[in-house]
Amino acid sequence: MHGSIEVNHLAKTFKKGNVQAVKDVSFTVNEGEFFAFLGPNGAGKSTVVQMLTTLINPTGGEAFVAGYNVSKDPGKVRRHIGVALQETGVDPDLTGREMLELQARIFGYQKQSAKHRADELLEIVQLTEDASRKIGNYSGGMRRRLDLALTLVNEPKILFLDEPTTGLDPTNRMAIWKELERLNKQVGTTIFLTTQYLEEADSLADRISIINRGLIVASGTPQQLKSQIGNDLITLTFTKEADLHEAEAVLKENLSTVDLIVQNGKLNVYVHEGNKQLLQIVRLLDEHKIELDTTNLSSPTLDDIFLKITNEPEEGEENGQ
Ligand SMILES: Nc1ncnc2c1ncn2[C@@H]1O[C@H](COP(=O)(O)OP(=O)(O)OP(=O)(O)O)[C@@H](O)[C@H]1O
Ligand SMILES: [Mg+2]
Repeated sequence: MHGSIEVNHLAKTFKKGNVQAVKDVSFTVNEGEFFAFLGPNGAGKSTVVQMLTTLINPTGGEAFVAGYNVSKDPGKVRRHIGVALQETGVDPDLTGREMLELQARIFGYQKQSAKHRADELLEIVQLTEDASRKIGNYSGGMRRRLDLALTLVNEPKILFLDEPTTGLDPTNRMAIWKELERLNKQVGTTIFLTTQYLEEADSLADRISIINRGLIVASGTPQQLKSQIGNDLITLTFTKEADLHEAEAVLKENLSTVDLIVQNGKLNVYVHEGNKQLLQIVRLLDEHKIELDTTNLSSPTLDDIFLKITNEPEEGEENGQ
């Protein structure tokens, strides 16, 4: 219960400009789960994070974090969570170590244990060497890592991270991924992460919801989302053109569950479980003495579903916005 998030028909309309940033969003994150909230710019991700972390009030629906209603019990919610927002306000004149010690003191650490905790966290996010530099002079990646360290000070049960890796180079991104995985798998921290990066959601999350224009448009495990758009694609080419048509006939006759399309002198075969099917296809063609030139197996990525879903026009919006 204390590590869970429950969201029912959550909505937020900003008075300014009458923007319906979040229209109707429901989902549950179980204790210890790694949940990714994926969506393009302006989808409503940060608005949801801000409501769940009690920074702004919903205008519709309700949400429970760590078992507490975010509107009615914001203080209790805050005690159980750590938050790294997209836009953070930290004092640029403080050093990284000072900022961490300050945060630890705010959470009730005594002076010595605050120092100790700061050192521990600096080590975890690999900022020990830069701990005495002013935050104002940190690079973007260093700032992100400091933000993460700051959210970990009080060992929260639930961690909210709003695009924690946007703009990071691959090395820094991997370092953050590793730390988030450690927190989730070893410490049991529930993680709610927003991202625009599909491969990030794919490799980290147990479950993903895709949000677009304030509505959830798809939900499931990375595997489920991928299988929604289905199929692996096997592309075959042949040394002789006659073989292409013979191959098409052979496969049509012997494989019941495939779609075959001839395109640009290639035979495209859409299948489930591409690895297994590829072996069988090669065997079949060999038996029929059909000479293959090349084979290629490609799996669908989350990119495909993301692009497909987020490009679909909203109902009644076909004429543009
Ligand atoms: N304080 C505000 N007042 C008015 N409109 C707002 C406010 N905050 C956000 N919006 C609008 O709400 C919509 C959703 O914004 P939000 O910041 O939640 O998107 P996001 O998914 O986090 O996008 P990004 O990936 O760019 O961070 C946008 O149209 C945005 O302009
Ligand atoms: Mg945002």
